[in-house]
Amino acid sequence: MNKITAAITAVGAYVPDYVLTNSILETLVDTNDEWITTRTGIKERRILKDDAKGTSYLAIKAAQDLINKSNIDPLEIDLVLVATATADMLVASTGAYVATEIGATNAFSYDLQSACSSFLFGMSTAAAYIESGRYKKVLLIGADKMSSIVDYTDRATCIIFGDGAGAVLFEPNNEGLGLQDEYLRTDGEGREFLKMTAGGSLFPASFETVRDNQHNIMQDGKTVFKYAVTNMADACETILKNNNLTNNDVQWLVPHQANKRIIDAIANRMNLEDSKVLMNIERYGNTTSATLPLVLSDFEHLFKKGDTIIFAAFGGGFSWGSIYLKWAYDKK
Ligand code: UT7
Repeated sequence: MNKITAAITAVGAYVPDYVLTNSILETLVDTNDEWITTRTGIKERRILKDDAKGTSYLAIKAAQDLINKSNIDPLEIDLVLVATATADMLVASTGAYVATEIGATNAFSYDLQSACSSFLFGMSTAAAYIESGRYKKVLLIGADKMSSIVDYTDRATCIIFGDGAGAVLFEPNNEGLGLQDEYLRTDGEGREFLKMTAGGSLFPASFETVRDNQHNIMQDGKTVFKYAVTNMADACETILKNNNLTNNDVQWLVPHQANKRIIDAIANRMNLEDSKVLMNIERYGNTTSATLPLVLSDFEHLFKKGDTIIFAAFGGGFSWGSIYLKWAYDKK
């Protein structure tokens, strides 16, 4: 009997309308377009301006885009996974609300959190449910309203992050397409370098945590940069080696969009030509859990059935890894 593999069979995406440009940021913090462009590759990001809307709004829009494009019946969805670092609330899960709002009322749902690696790790989770034969349709959404935890007086973080969401559907495949292999890792020593300190059980919200600005994301950019390059490049090399692949076998690299210089360094280590390295960081910045599906959505028209795609991500935790996937369809 053939092994069941888990393939991506549909993609959807959503970004809010408001465009936060580098020139607008110049009016908020001591920065400039030239510095941001050369140091990060980012020109603009999208921001969900409505204070009454959380990450679920972005996730629902991306899921609805996928449902409309693929014509699937939401009632057939078995499981909705929401990968996010900015859940609507710590309790209850954003996934439960999203599933109900999109009409996936036969599904169960929950959230997955591993900072910028949330979606990559979610791919592993979604695929495992399919490969086990237990479920047939798993909707994985990566969504983050990063503007809800960004300090717009901190130039080390506010220039990087944006809001957005993307969704993919995983289904069984009997041609051997879909997720082939993964190399995923974490290192808790890294949590001091990229974190939102307060609001959880260790430092519950208090007058002091608000006063001391501990409800925003903070990072030691230089340290994160160094580990991101080394760990993502190592993970990509490992996945190629473990699967006897060379750079020539790879059609596309889908990397987490955190900094163009990080992506260039990884592509360089892999010896990949520029045309295979997919980027949209210029338009969206770092949307955390949404970067990978937003790339899939923007470049879906280029993918051919059977293409080898290497995914890579790095985030807080630290957490990182690489996934090798064979694309399962030609876009109609
Ligand atoms: O998704 C995973 C999470 N995050 C990441 O992967 C981010 C990883 N880190 C980075 O992308 C980069 O470290 C940053 C973009 C955050 C910063 O770039 P950098 O090249 O590491 O800059 P730096 O922090 O070493 O700062 C270099 C200089 C400093 O000035 P001096 O000390 O050389 O005079 C900074 O004060 O640039 C200055 N600087 C800025 N200047 C203008 C730092 N931020 C800014 C800014 N605008 N926004």
